[in-house]
Amino acid sequence: MCGIVGYIGAREASDILVTGLKRLEYRGYDSAGIAVLNGSVKVRKKEGKVSELETVLNGQPVDGSVGMGHTRWATHGVPNDVNAHPHTADNGRFAIIHNGIIENYAVLKKQLAEKGYTFTSDTDTEVLAHFIDDVQKEANLSFAEAVRQALTQVDGAYGLVAVSQDEPDMLVVARNGSPLLLGIGEGEHFIGSDASPFIEYTRNVVYLNDGEMAVVRRNSYEVFKIDGAPVAKEVHALEWDLEEIEKGGYEHFMLKEIMEQPEVLENAMRGRVRLDDNQIRLGGLADVMPQLVNAERIIICACGTSWHAALVGEYLIEKHTRIPVEVEYASEFRYRDPILKDGDVVLVISQSGETADTLAAVRQAQQAGILTLGVVNTVGSTIARETDAGVYLHAGPEIGVASTKAFTAQVVVLTMIALAIGKERGTIDEGTLHTFLQGLTAIPDQIRSVLAQSEQIKELSHDYKTADNFLYLGRGCNFPVALEGALKLKEISYIHAEGYPAAEMKHGPIALIDRFMPVVVIAMKDAIYDKVVSGIEEVAAREGAVIAITEEGNDELDDLCKVVLHVPRSLECLEPLLTVIPLQLLSYYVAVLRDCNVDQPRNLAKSVTVE
Ligand code: AGP
Ligand code: GLU
Repeated sequence: MCGIVGYIGAREASDILVTGLKRLEYRGYDSAGIAVLNGSVKVRKKEGKVSELETVLNGQPVDGSVGMGHTRWATHGVPNDVNAHPHTADNGRFAIIHNGIIENYAVLKKQLAEKGYTFTSDTDTEVLAHFIDDVQKEANLSFAEAVRQALTQVDGAYGLVAVSQDEPDMLVVARNGSPLLLGIGEGEHFIGSDASPFIEYTRNVVYLNDGEMAVVRRNSYEVFKIDGAPVAKEVHALEWDLEEIEKGGYEHFMLKEIMEQPEVLENAMRGRVRLDDNQIRLGGLADVMPQLVNAERIIICACGTSWHAALVGEYLIEKHTRIPVEVEYASEFRYRDPILKDGDVVLVISQSGETADTLAAVRQAQQAGILTLGVVNTVGSTIARETDAGVYLHAGPEIGVASTKAFTAQVVVLTMIALAIGKERGTIDEGTLHTFLQGLTAIPDQIRSVLAQSEQIKELSHDYKTADNFLYLGRGCNFPVALEGALKLKEISYIHAEGYPAAEMKHGPIALIDRFMPVVVIAMKDAIYDKVVSGIEEVAAREGAVIAITEEGNDELDDLCKVVLHVPRSLECLEPLLTVIPLQLLSYYVAVLRDCNVDQPRNLAKSVTVE
């Protein structure tokens, strides 16, 4: 996964490219580079963050009004200056940047080497560059046609931009499996992995689909399929704007996104939760509601945090619709030849809408003729466009690699889906529906009351910044919250953390308990509260330090636990929206104390578009 930006117009390309790369850095960041056309192809690239590239450019500026930029998340070849993109061919006469994986690069590399080609990098991308050169020379093709014909022989995923000094007034763009969109300006055009590099210049975008290419000039662009057939494209007007992708005064995007969850959930429910007429209105499901009402099984596929939301969704959907739900890791689902049958519905959850494994699960379900739904945040993303129907989160861009507001928005959307289907199926009555609509409506203010404890949580995080391990325990629909809390901590603070069903302690994990093992336990006063308290007593009896998350007014745990944090009561399956908040804050503050790169944790990217 990486960031791609391109520009052709009348402005200086270099500044636009570097600023754009900074906004895309969350997508992948082990090296960065640009290529600018000005008589020849001028490449500047450097290992490390975009700021390292800026240092190079300060010493060796490049001017010109056509160019492209790339932040890399390595798949072939270690992160270093040589493997950074752009990669050139034909004695530097053209350059390409690439997001994705060329699966058959080794075969191509062998063929090219036999023809005398030499390689300076270890990347699959450089092989593609030389392959394009070879195709062009073999058949004396135009640059765009050489790129097109080369891509017909390539297996794998790519988002690609290429420039040639021999045809300097164009950008050649292609996409197959990795997101790319065009920004449509006046006398200028932009390319981006998303719209953040150019949103202040234009909100008019054209989404490229898999298997599509474009030749983009200053005053025109043409889109065609890799097989050459022209494609008519609709121009979409985006609604979000620049400050939504800025930090809004917070030190990190992650903290901004934790703190904006009340507004995010209000947006997610806006126009959908209708208390006055006791309705849930999900326009994106209207056409498929009859199939959902008669579904015999719902299979939810997702990865990471989205998979945790899926586990909450399982409780919600089964509770309100009585339709059996199975939750699958998308990466496992796609390879285990799943048994799919009539009456099944596959629902995928993805913040980015570009996660390769989740997209593959969609395509696998569709090959089996199964209805596919998408619960997605990024408007116009591949999963959003390829699923048969779906519901957007409307959570706004989530920049922090650690997902927070997307998780709570996913749980809200899954609740609305469950209620909508339950109402149509008659498995919930009007009164129950109204109770849940009221419960949902109260959530944003309830989250505000939990966020008001952030200073207290910041203080207590000092006690845990040196911990080596953490256990997170929860039961029922708070078990997924235990998993989510553990994932948050480990992915941004690099402390090992495990989430477990609370009752599982006796089946092994309790062997880990000593006074060095902090144990977070979600203990809301629900039907199994007493059982959870017994587990806390077992931990405390072995000097385990328990951090309890319980409901306001409950002081029964004060003597038993080292820390007790309180959240408001809500309806049982809405509580994950509240119990997750202290865990998000705890992981954030511990990571900050450990001087970790909270928004861009090591080894991670915001969206994993490669397998
Ligand atoms: C969550 O904090 C991680 N960044 C990661 O697990 C993420 O949830 C996962 O990669 C799925 O991403 P998606 O929702 O965009 O598909
Ligand atoms: N496979 C290419 C490389 O390793 C592109 C990786 C990316 O998506 O950034 O350089």
